[in-house]
Amino acid sequence: MPTKPFHLAWFLQGSSVQAWGETWTGHIGQTWMKPELFLNVARALERACFDYILLEDSSYVGESFAGSTEIYLRNGIAVPRQDPSVVAALMTQVTSRIGIVPTFGTYAYHPYLLSRLVATLDQVSGGRIGWNAVTGSSDFAAMNFGMPGMPEHDLRYDMADEYMEVCNGLWDSWEPGAVIADRKSGVLIDPTKVHAVNYNGKHYKTRGPLNSGPAPQGRPVIAQAGGSPRGRKFAAAHADTIVVHVKGIEAMRAYRDDVHEHMIACGRKPSDCKVLYLINPILGDTMQDAQERKKRRAAIAMERIEERLAHFGKVTNIDFGKFDLDKPLPDDVTTNGHQQNLEQYRLMAKGRSIRETMASFNAVDLSVELCGTPDAVAARMGEVMQEVGGDGFLFSMPNVNRRTLAEIEDGLVPALQDRGLMRTAYEHKHFRDNLLAY
Ligand SMILES: Cc1cc2nc3c(=O)[nH]c(=O)nc-3n(C[C@H](O)[C@H](O)[C@H](O)COP(=O)(O)O)c2cc1C
Repeated sequence: MPTKPFHLAWFLQGSSVQAWGETWTGHIGQTWMKPELFLNVARALERACFDYILLEDSSYVGESFAGSTEIYLRNGIAVPRQDPSVVAALMTQVTSRIGIVPTFGTYAYHPYLLSRLVATLDQVSGGRIGWNAVTGSSDFAAMNFGMPGMPEHDLRYDMADEYMEVCNGLWDSWEPGAVIADRKSGVLIDPTKVHAVNYNGKHYKTRGPLNSGPAPQGRPVIAQAGGSPRGRKFAAAHADTIVVHVKGIEAMRAYRDDVHEHMIACGRKPSDCKVLYLINPILGDTMQDAQERKKRRAAIAMERIEERLAHFGKVTNIDFGKFDLDKPLPDDVTTNGHQQNLEQYRLMAKGRSIRETMASFNAVDLSVELCGTPDAVAARMGEVMQEVGGDGFLFSMPNVNRRTLAEIEDGLVPALQDRGLMRTAYEHKHFRDNLLAY
């Protein structure tokens, strides 16, 4: 079968201390406040021709383990976490082609403020901004914004549908060609091409037009990660790219097929949204070296089981600190948080204790196992994409540091390029055009 290039993106655990407690991180405990590592990441991934960098976000200090913030603070689990718009803006200034995708929660920003912020970022980046549109999931986050808790899971997506309508209205409030900038006539903006929005919805209201002016991409790229049935519908209706964590080729294919069906039902073309799957490739000089590294990563995952449960609890709102880890998770535990994560845990658990389940659950391998020399991993990534049908991978590495970046940029990516699986130069100026180029 002829090979086809696919898309690559990188998932950063927020504008936070990266990889605390890992080796090869220098003095990250002191240097995290300054953006040097983030700027290095952006430059390296642009040299490697990645499509985009996604900056995770949440706006609260975790408190979902043993009813306390302690484990989160001691171990730097998603804290300290800076506002992602600042690092995103800085990243755009040291790059010229790669897409930058900060996360903003619909619960935390009024849609007018969000549309303006994202349009401004699109302007200063020259048309390279995406927005990871999340609904949020934690009651602790909701309380930081004066709400008693998060609305119910599916209602959050209903509200987010309306939210998207408002944002799209605001981004469209400037017609193409509205900025004339004619020095002769002295006219900067054609008033007939800038329109009020007058949106009066059930959850949101706004007047418009957007005062930031037009975004170079018109509407910035929308990224989404809906995993539940309702979340998938939302993603299929709005996203230009979806990032997803499902296990194994069959589930990957089924997810993409499902999203495509929903897209068609919304009148969209499946090729207009790129589905990227989470991976954590383990590279080595030889297969044996890679396997040893993988064993070490699995051992670290077991040593850090409580931290991993604290992280899992943060996104599912389940306090695993309350349970006996040597017993199974009780059947009646449900979530108003990330439903898909809990569903995957249950699929894997099959009656095993929490500790036994966590030995494999997201310990090292994410969507598929990738372990070996750069060449072997590149070949496997090509096979996986052929079997799934597309569209690429999202790297989610626990050990974000310059060494890991060099292994990807100088090891794996050239091996992918040699196989024709990865672009060697960006095709276009704007992020969406690159994303949809193939
Ligand atoms: C790769 C990836 C990145 C995500 N990033 C964020 C994030 O930064 N902030 C957030 O609140 N949720 C984030 N989520 C959670 C999703 O928005 C979503 O809630 C989750 O995938 C579960 O789907 P569901 O809400 O449909 O149950 C992310 C999910 C995935 C798979």
